[in-house]
Amino acid sequence: MKILVIGSGGREHALLWAMSQSDKDSTAADAPALYCHPGSAATSLLTLPSGLEKRASWEELAGFAARQKIDLTVCGPEAPLADGVADLFRQRGLAFLGPGQAAAQLESSKVFAKEFMARHGIPTARFEVFDDFAGAERFLAKPPFGYPLVVKADGLAAGKGVAVCPDRPTAREFLEKVMGQRIFGESGGRVVIEECLQGEELSCIALCDGLDFLCLPPAQDHKRLRDGDLGPNTGGMGAYSWDGIFPGELLREVESRILLPTLSGMAEEGNRYNGFLYAGIMVTAGGPMVLEYNVRLGDPETQPILMRLRGSPVEALARAAGGGLRGARLDWRPDPAVCVVAAAEGYPEQPAKGDRITGLEEAGEFADVQVFHSGTGRGPRGWETAGGRVLGVTARGGSLRLASRQAYQALERIRFRGMHFRRDIAARGLAREA
Ligand code: AMP
Ligand code: GLY
Repeated sequence: MKILVIGSGGREHALLWAMSQSDKDSTAADAPALYCHPGSAATSLLTLPSGLEKRASWEELAGFAARQKIDLTVCGPEAPLADGVADLFRQRGLAFLGPGQAAAQLESSKVFAKEFMARHGIPTARFEVFDDFAGAERFLAKPPFGYPLVVKADGLAAGKGVAVCPDRPTAREFLEKVMGQRIFGESGGRVVIEECLQGEELSCIALCDGLDFLCLPPAQDHKRLRDGDLGPNTGGMGAYSWDGIFPGELLREVESRILLPTLSGMAEEGNRYNGFLYAGIMVTAGGPMVLEYNVRLGDPETQPILMRLRGSPVEALARAAGGGLRGARLDWRPDPAVCVVAAAEGYPEQPAKGDRITGLEEAGEFADVQVFHSGTGRGPRGWETAGGRVLGVTARGGSLRLASRQAYQALERIRFRGMHFRRDIAARGLAREA
């Protein structure tokens, strides 16, 4: 089987690593041939060269997949999906896991997502949509749900288009940047202003074939830069996956009140959803509510989630892409996993690049540890930093405490100039496990 993964970060590195794990009754001859585009120096250790330029267009990539007779393409990031890469592949008869452009609006347009949830009674914060600055500003004078409230740019903004605003001046200032100065470009043509929800935030990801779905184990991300959830928002400074995050009854509620109505609502509207569906959930006093949808696997949530998988995900992914997920299985270990992100100096504002990384081999020698590469490259002196989030050191253990200890011990072996990381990844779970 030939598989192409689109992307180049830690999530894609973890996905390729999981795909290269063998099933218990498979032989070496069953191992899939893996390709990754644009890929990275780290993913290239697991894949065959595609010969494509990094900047190849989606048409060129689909041409490559057709020539190579790729059996399955899986997309990591949201931007290619919002661009319509899935439609392009499917038009050429190529199996693809990921939503088409219309369904990818669940992530690429907050207005689409909120109005969809309202149409289908999916629990989410109360909201109002504005396409003019004056109207939005008037609303801020007397919002029916009061302050704090949340202002969201409609379109993709690399995770920066959302501000939780404690008062009217803060909200007005963010609104001015989004709609007035258009700091996120056309993404700021419309905004959603919504009620601020209180509770604990969880990531729930499901593999979907258009009608059926299979839930992955739950995860919790750590978006803020510093310990104690302080500092600016980042792409995610670490995540852990542990069944204790989600008592069984809550999982059933998320499935029945959120995932199922999302899939059936999309299908009813003639916009079937195929791919990974990520629901960012706030567990409020009134039950789980959707903060946002992502149309892909989370990064870094994927890293600890896939550390818990027994065998390879390939068959289930192929069945989901082909619309035949029913009866497919993913076999998860009960053992939790923890991923700590090592970030570059200056991240998230202006990450430094080109710093030499040492200790990767020693870190990788720890039992049940994988070091996934998010932003690294190969220079004349070996591995070096090449992105804001550099590495995701991920460990699995018999308890959350053991997994966390193992991840931090492995991380201690790694050094690069300006390296920083959070020391409290999984703290909420650890407090509950104790
Ligand atoms: P989003 O890009 O929509 O995921 O928002 C980014 C982050 O903002 C989320 O992970 C939450 O921490 C926070 N957030 C978004 N919407 C709300 C809300 N309605 N209430 C509270 N926090 C929110
Ligand atoms: N870790 C959050 C995300 O992938 O959007």
